[in-house]
Amino acid sequence: MQKIAIIGAGRVGESTAQFLATKDAAHEIVLIDIKEGQAEGAALDIQETAPLFEFDSRVSGSTESETMQDADLVIVTAGIPRKPGMSRSDVLETNIKILDGIIDDVLKHAPDAMLLLVSNPVDVLTWRAWTRTGWPRERVFGQAGVLDSSRMAAFIALETGYSTQDIQTMVLGGHGDSMVPMIRYTTISGIGVENFLSTEKIEDIITRTRNGGAEVLALRQSSSAYDAPAAAVAEMVDAIVHDRKRILPSVAILQGEYGHDQAAMGVPCVLGKNGMENIIELNLNEDERAQFERSLSGVKKDIDRL
Ligand code: 2OP
Repeated sequence: MQKIAIIGAGRVGESTAQFLATKDAAHEIVLIDIKEGQAEGAALDIQETAPLFEFDSRVSGSTESETMQDADLVIVTAGIPRKPGMSRSDVLETNIKILDGIIDDVLKHAPDAMLLLVSNPVDVLTWRAWTRTGWPRERVFGQAGVLDSSRMAAFIALETGYSTQDIQTMVLGGHGDSMVPMIRYTTISGIGVENFLSTEKIEDIITRTRNGGAEVLALRQSSSAYDAPAAAVAEMVDAIVHDRKRILPSVAILQGEYGHDQAAMGVPCVLGKNGMENIIELNLNEDERAQFERSLSGVKKDIDRL
């Protein structure tokens, strides 16, 4: 990939730039932030790690939206984060306004790009970005499920003591309290997780996964999570840059899949050089279907507020 632009040089944006540079994900990585010096400082700091991490990506920062010119991929991390006690939906009104301005800049300067949404509430913002750009859904998608699945896998590793390398998890649904961790697809080296953990322990892990973002925020108080979210973005970008055709849970525009349209939500997607290339439709059982519908109705309620 030639050029990736990251909008927002807050903690998620900065960590994303660092992880992407470390992976040599693009020849050029541009960080953009409205705060004078913020993106420039972060970019310079990251560029100075190049000899240590042995990457050749050129990382630059700017306040000017035109520096995203002709980016192949634009990652949106800008917006206000929630404060302790707030839900992701509580930042919707402010972040929609910020997003609308960004989308207009993207349409002007990078009309052929793919858009990866990270800011919250990510499902709703992905929907808004898709409707405002009018682009094919393959080019507009969001990050949530890779992070939620990673959190769940980390908790299972901590609980069982087994290697994270062997743990497979999949979290679907909206990136909120009603996200849907899919226990039926949760395995350790292909062996169902229920062979290793009691129902009670599994329930604890589901609850902890759903509260994963809030748990970090409650500890830090002044900042949401940023390392795991940025690493999750980097995982998705790696799949796209290398056309890996990985199946990763991503926020996608539903067009009849799972019996729905008029919504964006976390579902298993094939990620490759064209972006969100396909949605994998799982046969949900009754309980999973009920959880999925509950999660979707929460996302739709927010979409209706737009
Ligand atoms: C999280 O889950 C901030 O939504 C982000 O940590």
